[in-house]
Amino acid sequence: MSDLKVKKVKDFSAELSVPGDKSISHRALMFSALSNGPCEITGFLAGEDCLSTRDALAAMGVEIEELGSGGTHIRVHGCQGKFVDPGRALYCGNSGTTMRLMSGILAGLPFQTTMTGDESLTKRPMNRIALPLEKMGARIRGKGDRCTAPLTIIGREKLTPIHYESPVASAQIKSAIMLAALSADGKTSVTEPHQSRDHTERMLNYLLVKNIREGNTVSIWGGQLPESRDIVVPGDISSAAFWIVAAAARQGARLLIDNVGLNPTRIGVLGVMTRMGAKITERIDESGCEPMGSVEVVGGRLTATEIGGEEIPSLIDEVPILAVAAALAEGTTVIRDAQELRVKESDRISTVAENLRRMGVPVEEFADGMEITGVEELKGADINSLGDHRIAMAFAIAGLFASGETIIRGSECIETSYPGFTKELAQLQAMSR
Ligand code: S3P
Repeated sequence: MSDLKVKKVKDFSAELSVPGDKSISHRALMFSALSNGPCEITGFLAGEDCLSTRDALAAMGVEIEELGSGGTHIRVHGCQGKFVDPGRALYCGNSGTTMRLMSGILAGLPFQTTMTGDESLTKRPMNRIALPLEKMGARIRGKGDRCTAPLTIIGREKLTPIHYESPVASAQIKSAIMLAALSADGKTSVTEPHQSRDHTERMLNYLLVKNIREGNTVSIWGGQLPESRDIVVPGDISSAAFWIVAAAARQGARLLIDNVGLNPTRIGVLGVMTRMGAKITERIDESGCEPMGSVEVVGGRLTATEIGGEEIPSLIDEVPILAVAAALAEGTTVIRDAQELRVKESDRISTVAENLRRMGVPVEEFADGMEITGVEELKGADINSLGDHRIAMAFAIAGLFASGETIIRGSECIETSYPGFTKELAQLQAMSR
């Protein structure tokens, strides 16, 4: 296990780019693999999670060429959905997106495949995708009531279309069903309580696979094959969020992030930070498959806010870093309706609450969120990341505002989503005046 040591910084001025979006990189791989020809992907995130998807597809006979730039520029040769039986279990590492979305593809293939993962992934609920995929005619086997991994998918070439009312707003559930729907006759639709990230809908449309949205319902028709087209992956707003909070909470700091994804279903963090008094300017420069552009931040004093309701899906992965922002703000911030955090890479409500308390921050935990009272200065502490990349990075940022030294235990998990984070952090500490 490696430790990351962080010390306080003063103000700083930085221009940076963040690696490719994790959600979009997974989809770019899967959808181009399903397509009818070669697709070049630029800006691909060569982090451990997306490499799990890449390895799974390669094991199923998909040719993937590396075209340079440390694995961020690749060519995927679409196999028109004619995947081969991998003949062994697929290892998904820490990646819930790999396991859940691949389940949708495997449900429509005429063989049986098992997927496994690391300690965290094998605790996460897979019944949320097993239920709809079984309704469509696949058979899914996992452990216990929550159908945890190892997860075995016994697929069928022809699935049955369904209308599914999802109890949670989850892009992984929606996407697994939409992928399976390509192997069903007719129209399949999914209704969510609130809209989750819409990368699947956008990318499928871009690859000429017809799907439509009416309110919180998405419908898709079976028998369609994605058209091979090149895909540009924007920088990940979830990775950018760490630096955005670092700059927004530090008087005198300036930050410019370019080429970052600005999809409206993902930028809840910008809205919340603006409500907290942050000075943020966004500019959309390009809009292909996904809107992307730059975000500029000028540091100042933050104030408390309330976070909840339908904005939660648009910032679900940013709650740990928003909790750090709350700890640095004046007043008491309340986060509600975020019970999904209990089943992420760690139980992010208890992990955030425990680590904030170690840094001297008063926190009250609720079943679906927490209440955080801001303090003048954080106290350097020994932080347990529990192998959760977003916890490790959120508390590394907290360490930039803490007296003494902060040590992040198990910081190697950062490689899951943000290779280069530690280097960027060291540069920022070196430039701090
Ligand atoms: C993701 C969706 C979200 C998010 C996860 C990635 C995706 O999960 O937390 O990091 O790529 O579809 P849920 O679908 O469980 O909300």
